[in-house]
Amino acid sequence: MKFRGSDILSVDQFQKEDLQPLFDTAAQMEVYATRQKVTRVLEGSVLANLFFEPSTRSRVSFGSAFNRLGGEVRDTTGFTFSSMAKGESIHDTSRVISGYSDVMVVRHPEEGAVKQFADATNIPVINGGDGPGEHPTQALLDLYTVMKEHGKRLEDIDGLSIAMIGDLKYGRTVHSLAKLLSLFEGTSFSLISPKQLRMPREIIERIRTREHQVRETENLEVGVKGADIVYMTRIQEERFKTKREFARYRGRYSIDRQFYENRCKEGAILMHPLPIDSRPGAQEYSDDLHGHPQLAVYRQTDNGIPIRMALFALVLDVADKVHDTAKDALWYHPNVIDSN
Ligand code: NCD
Repeated sequence: MKFRGSDILSVDQFQKEDLQPLFDTAAQMEVYATRQKVTRVLEGSVLANLFFEPSTRSRVSFGSAFNRLGGEVRDTTGFTFSSMAKGESIHDTSRVISGYSDVMVVRHPEEGAVKQFADATNIPVINGGDGPGEHPTQALLDLYTVMKEHGKRLEDIDGLSIAMIGDLKYGRTVHSLAKLLSLFEGTSFSLISPKQLRMPREIIERIRTREHQVRETENLEVGVKGADIVYMTRIQEERFKTKREFARYRGRYSIDRQFYENRCKEGAILMHPLPIDSRPGAQEYSDDLHGHPQLAVYRQTDNGIPIRMALFALVLDVADKVHDTAKDALWYHPNVIDSN
């Protein structure tokens, strides 16, 4: 895959051989992500970070990754304060923003809308989540996390067994991750969801044609058995037509320490794209798992920074120059990385 100047819209753009260079670049970014060093390689460049749907993590993570490369960030959030509230088209917004910035990240509630932004401009556009469609950068950071937690090398992902749990119909992170994992050999997918929230058929077909194993079940206990990775998701409240329909599924699947210890494979890694719905009656992971060494969810969010730095550096074609401007970081910071 050619990164220079490219949009990142879907994981379909990636072949297995593109992952190693991306992850090698991400590994090189870790000294900056962990605030040991600073680089100014993107000094003078501007990221337009356009989020038309709720987000804390992805928006701040994209912004911080760009800042850590020395670039500047302009954020907009929601429709209310944007010109789209005055009826402006995606084409016009995208074209106008291209005059102000060097790269755009867009999150939008409609599947396919981010591609429309990309079609209207020639600066690179990165999909920060398009409705129930895809979330490619989340899947890449998830895969990077799987690699670091389970083995260390990309080849260690072959033969992996993963349980994906929750809202597999509307959850864009699992759509992207399932497609990426199907690039490997002999993956075993256990898809655990209510019948009405099953993984889209075309994704299951795709996995099956690559000769991976796929099992679908509604039963959490049955589904997690033997899984190396347990990947929980939130029921996507915002995609349901009524609160009543959403309430039918909320809290259906929850894992606490006792369940983990009695039902999951020893050493199984617990992942979640976050946010966890922490309200009573939901809690995909219960609070009693805080501090558990196999709960990888915060290491997963930390990994978002080096992965997004790597994507920016590759797309803007400065990956080989990042260390040229490197200096020691001078300010105080506690060592937060690696803690739960
Ligand atoms: C996810 C998303 O927005 O798709 N969050 C994220 O970006 N990490 C998952 C979710 O909202 O449930």
